[in-house]
Amino acid sequence: MSEIAKLELNGKVYEFPVITGSENEKAIDISTLRSATGYITLDPGFKNTGSTKSGITFLNGEEGILRYRGYPIEQLAEKAEFLEVAYLLIYGSLPTLAQYTKFKKTITLHTLIHEDMREFFEAYPAKAHPMGILAASLSSLSTFYPESHDPYRPQEAVDLTIYRLLAKLPTLAAWAYKNAMRHPVVYPKNNLDYCENFLNMMFSMPTEDYKVNPVVAQALNKLLILHADHEQNCSAATVRVVGSSQANLYTSVAAGVSALWGPLHGGANQAVIEMLEAIRNDGGDVDKWINKAKDKDDTFRLMGFGHRVYKNFDPRATIIKKASDDVLKALGVNDPVLDIAKKLETVALNDDYFKSRGLYPNVDFYSGIIYRALNIPSEMFTVMFAIGRLPGWIAQWKEMIEDKAPIGRPRQVYTGATKRDFVDIDKR
Ligand code: SDX
Repeated sequence: MSEIAKLELNGKVYEFPVITGSENEKAIDISTLRSATGYITLDPGFKNTGSTKSGITFLNGEEGILRYRGYPIEQLAEKAEFLEVAYLLIYGSLPTLAQYTKFKKTITLHTLIHEDMREFFEAYPAKAHPMGILAASLSSLSTFYPESHDPYRPQEAVDLTIYRLLAKLPTLAAWAYKNAMRHPVVYPKNNLDYCENFLNMMFSMPTEDYKVNPVVAQALNKLLILHADHEQNCSAATVRVVGSSQANLYTSVAAGVSALWGPLHGGANQAVIEMLEAIRNDGGDVDKWINKAKDKDDTFRLMGFGHRVYKNFDPRATIIKKASDDVLKALGVNDPVLDIAKKLETVALNDDYFKSRGLYPNVDFYSGIIYRALNIPSEMFTVMFAIGRLPGWIAQWKEMIEDKAPIGRPRQVYTGATKRDFVDIDKR
């Protein structure tokens, strides 16, 4: 017998169906609440509110579980290529060899940016944050392909947009970096794989070609997989809401980039490194900064700690922490901020303030350590997150479109002034 939830209001009992997910998650379907009762719910930050059913990613915050289409993140991070995971998230199954070969080749053939766009980059100041360039570039990309704006048809145009975004985002990202360095842009090469191509566009110079270190390429592949999706996070929810108005996929993803930029979300990886460097420059007194993070009167937060869903360890942080040790050892890099990060983690995990609130290192706490070892500047860290998260945004958008989801438009409880008449300015 299906479960029901009962709500008593003013002596009347209302019943609402309970939905059970494939992992036994429960939800009360309140889609008839307002028409039945005249009431709405209120849940700032949607901490208790589901916006959709989804078959893409499963998280269990209490047990630290993360699976993409049922595959554990630990296995994908160890065994898969990033584009394989992108295919899995977007199309729902791991590709066969033939499907994957065709998918990779198609993407390779779309990595070039329309030459008219190259001049856009020259217009930005050197100090322009690459996330601002990326958000603007993705929306600008839509102006070159007006025939592919309709999210519903033709399917070939929608697929072509998906290929173009996956192919061109690394090129846009690398060109944003070259703009900041005031170096000439480097064009994609068809003989390099996804990660190698990005690294080459980032670090190759007219004076000497960049030799891709396989350790670096493998570390990047793993980091991109770990960032590929995370169910209804702030930026994915943003992509869904923007896409629900039937705005095109380019601009929906651009909105996701803007949401990701915030330091409470994807911008945290840059904020973590800046925090660790500030602690090092302040003499490395970890206890002093832990106390600042606990002080309600101090705005300082321990960046890279805490999560809306994970109230236990973030499985991605566990994988990245180990990878940071491996990569720094393989590259012979000794980064003093890694030691500070580990000390911070040890002190925080033994402190009741953090334990009682379920505040553990999240995906952003160690990722910056690896990016630094790969010589990626901190302003590019959130761009790296965006490159990883793109397949997830596309998958979430595609599911929303295929589900024919209604436009996202929340209700509110009005608490402002009640009715009053206009007063002429000379009588105010
Ligand atoms: C990402 O949603 C996703 O899946 C996101 C993400 C993804 O893959 O898409 O996982 C990526 O965004 C990871 C999070 C990166 N952000 C940071 O590292 C920034 C620092 N963390 C926080 O600001 C915070 O933990 C959030 C934003 C991540 C979560 O905030 P919530 O769920 O709204 O929790 P909250 O702010 O209400 O905090 C609950 C309590 C509060 O204290 P009390 O009011 O109970 O006394 O915990 C405290 C907060 O003050 N707290 C922290 C803290 N995080 C929460 N105190 C000190 N340092 C922190 N980092």
